[in-house]
Amino acid sequence: MTDNTAIQSFYAASPAVDLPHIERAEGPYLWDRSGRRYVDAASGPVVTNIGHGNPHVVEAIARQAATCAFASRTAFVSDANQALGERLAKLCGPGHDRAFFTSGGSEAVEASLKFARQVAWVRGERKRWKVISRNPSYHGSTLGALSVTGDEEIDDLFGPMMRQMPKVATPFTYRIPEGYTPQGWQEAAAADLEQTILREGPETCLAFILEPIGGLATGALVASEAYYNAVRRICSRHGLLLIYDEVMSGAGRSGAFLSAHHWRDAKPDLVVLAKGLGAGYTPLGAMMAPRDLVELVAAAGGFLHGHTYVANPLTCATGLAVLDEVERQNLIQNAARLGPKLSEILRQIMAHSPIVGDVRGLGLLMAIEVVADQCTKRPFPLEVEITKRIARLAMKHGLIIYARRTSHGKFGEWIMIGPPLNADEELLGEIGSKLQACLTDCVDELLNEGILTGGIQAGAELRHSI
Ligand SMILES: Cc1ncc(COP(=O)(O)O)c(C=O)c1O
Repeated sequence: MTDNTAIQSFYAASPAVDLPHIERAEGPYLWDRSGRRYVDAASGPVVTNIGHGNPHVVEAIARQAATCAFASRTAFVSDANQALGERLAKLCGPGHDRAFFTSGGSEAVEASLKFARQVAWVRGERKRWKVISRNPSYHGSTLGALSVTGDEEIDDLFGPMMRQMPKVATPFTYRIPEGYTPQGWQEAAAADLEQTILREGPETCLAFILEPIGGLATGALVASEAYYNAVRRICSRHGLLLIYDEVMSGAGRSGAFLSAHHWRDAKPDLVVLAKGLGAGYTPLGAMMAPRDLVELVAAAGGFLHGHTYVANPLTCATGLAVLDEVERQNLIQNAARLGPKLSEILRQIMAHSPIVGDVRGLGLLMAIEVVADQCTKRPFPLEVEITKRIARLAMKHGLIIYARRTSHGKFGEWIMIGPPLNADEELLGEIGSKLQACLTDCVDELLNEGILTGGIQAGAELRHSI
């Protein structure tokens, strides 16, 4: 039973979630205080890319902490900071050769928005301030990041406290609006960006930010290559900076260091990273920017932005050790190799579970969309709290998944599956069989509660209805 501690009392007391106490973690596994073992099927919230307890990283942390944990960036440069910047520039490639470090994804998104604004300011384009983004989307929880996040539930509560930014359509591949072909919807979503820019006034538009592979807001959505190319052309045509929020999709998770590397003609101007960069060993985010823009801003007095922990040596040394492990263990290649295998396992599950409607993603960033009816794609009623149910049942099977409802579930509900990048076939098999068992339990529960009706024999061809 969870104690009602000062920390946990900030969150809703939910009978669906009875959080165990963590005891220790190693590789892709975590153990609670009772000795129960859990498989980290989504690397926490898609963070622990190299698994838990990596001794090389632990040693690097101890070494840096003993040498110098903190030295303010306003007084010193550090080897760790310089080395991490150089390594990241190399991994990100030409055009993303300058790194600005933060303590996480929201801060890195904020940095990208403010940096884009300062670039426009220095260029004399001072009317440009609107950052267009997609609905739904998720870019972080600080007010600036929320202003570009497309989530009606969040807008209802925090909308009055922030300057709302224009939103455009998301290029969904599964829940395609009526009257569109899959390709037609990709084109329409890109066209919506251009129409929005023209409607808002191109001279007022600063940037377009998107998750190149969706996170929780769209469940690992991967658009068509034509979509990425189209938004690149539109941004260039109207002078907007293109920002890829790779907080979840970056650092090797998709089978390339940046998922931007999958679409070489659609290169973003700015890239935001976090999560897998520190891999759970330290809070770390980064904004990668091209040298010419950084020099422009620096020559005009410098970036008017910063945080106390920007570029602190301990965090940078930790991030560097994580990247050492990513390279030493060939984890980017491993994610690329295992992606199709994970996809195949999830598709097998879809073939046997009547409540899985779609499998999507790239590399080891995947999701399954949960539906009440596979044929009509009808989602479950909100009060069923379907993903919370599945997460609770998964815990019973010793499986940790990652799910959260966006925009009151208006666009559907899904579960993220993203094991550490040093997974192997055996781990994927374990995740698959536990997930299958938990979905079977879920269908049984829904049948028992009369939420689903129909035959007990699960199968894609067998329709349940609500
Ligand atoms: C795409 C994306 N951007 C930004 C963030 C915010 O990152 P953080 O929680 O580290 O502030 C997240 C977090 O889930 C994310 O998935």
